Amino acid sequence: MAKKKRIRYEEIHAFPNVIFTEIVDADSRKVNRSWSENVFEKEQETVVEIGCGRGEYCIDLARRNPHKNYLGVDIKADRLYIGAKKAMEEGLTNVMFVRIRVEFLPTFLEGHPISEAWITFPDPYNRTINGRKRLTAPRFLDLYRKILNRGASLHLKTDDPTLYEFSLESLNQSGADIRFHTFDLYSTSEDLGDAKAVQTTYEKRYIKEGRLIKYIHFTLPAPSEN
Ligand SMILES: C[S@@+](CC[C@H](N)C(=O)[O-])C[C@H]1O[C@@H](n2cnc3c(N)ncnc32)[C@H](O)[C@@H]1O
Repeated sequence: MAKKKRIRYEEIHAFPNVIFTEIVDADSRKVNRSWSENVFEKEQETVVEIGCGRGEYCIDLARRNPHKNYLGVDIKADRLYIGAKKAMEEGLTNVMFVRIRVEFLPTFLEGHPISEAWITFPDPYNRTINGRKRLTAPRFLDLYRKILNRGASLHLKTDDPTLYEFSLESLNQSGADIRFHTFDLYSTSEDLGDAKAVQTTYEKRYIKEGRLIKYIHFTLPAPSEN
C-alpha cells in the first residue's frame, strides 16, 4: 500500500463519522460492526449512496437536505477519508460513512431500513462476461430490496451507455418500476431535483470530457417472503 494510502487507512479508524467494518464471516456476509441507533445526531430518514467514493455527492445532498441523514458507502477507505474529513471540517452532522462491501449491507443494516438510494457512477465492468459484478445486476437489485423501505426510490447515474442499457434490462427482469430514464440528463427539461442539481467527483470529470450523463429513477418490488 502506498504511504499516503496507508496513513489515511490508519487515521480513518479514529474518525467519529466513519464506521469501519471488517469481514467476520464471508459466507454469511457478516461484519464486525452493525448499525446502531443514535449514529446520527437527529433521528430522521436515512438515504444511502452506494459506492460513494470521495463522498462529495452525499455531502452536497446533506447540505441541501438537512431534514435527512445520509450514509455514504464504499469499500475504499482512502477515498472515504476525503469526504469524511470534509464533512467533519464543515461540522455536518447528517452525513456518515461506512467502509463496507455493498454485499454485506443487509447484515450490517438489519432492522434499519433505508428510505432512498443513489447508485452513482458504478464501475461499468464491461469486460466481465455476464455483468454479475455490476451494481445494477439482478443479485444487487435483490440486495437493495432487503435494505430499502417498500416503494423507496433508487437513482442510478452513469456515463456508460453499456451499463445504462444493461441496467434497464436488469430492472425490467427484476420487475422494477422505471419511473423515469434519460440518455442525457442535462438536456432534459424535467425538474429532477437533486439528480440535476448535485454532481459527483466522477460526474464533474465526465461532463468536462463531453460525455453524456444517463439517469434512471426506479422503485423495486418488495422482497418475497421466502
Ligand atoms: C467509479 S467510482 C465512483 C465514485 C463516486 N460515486 C463518484 O461518482 O465520484 C466507483 C466506486 O464504487 C466503489 N465500489 C465498487 N464496488 C463496490 C462494492 N461492491 N462495495 C463497495 N464499494 C464498491 C469503488 O470503491 C469506487 O469508489
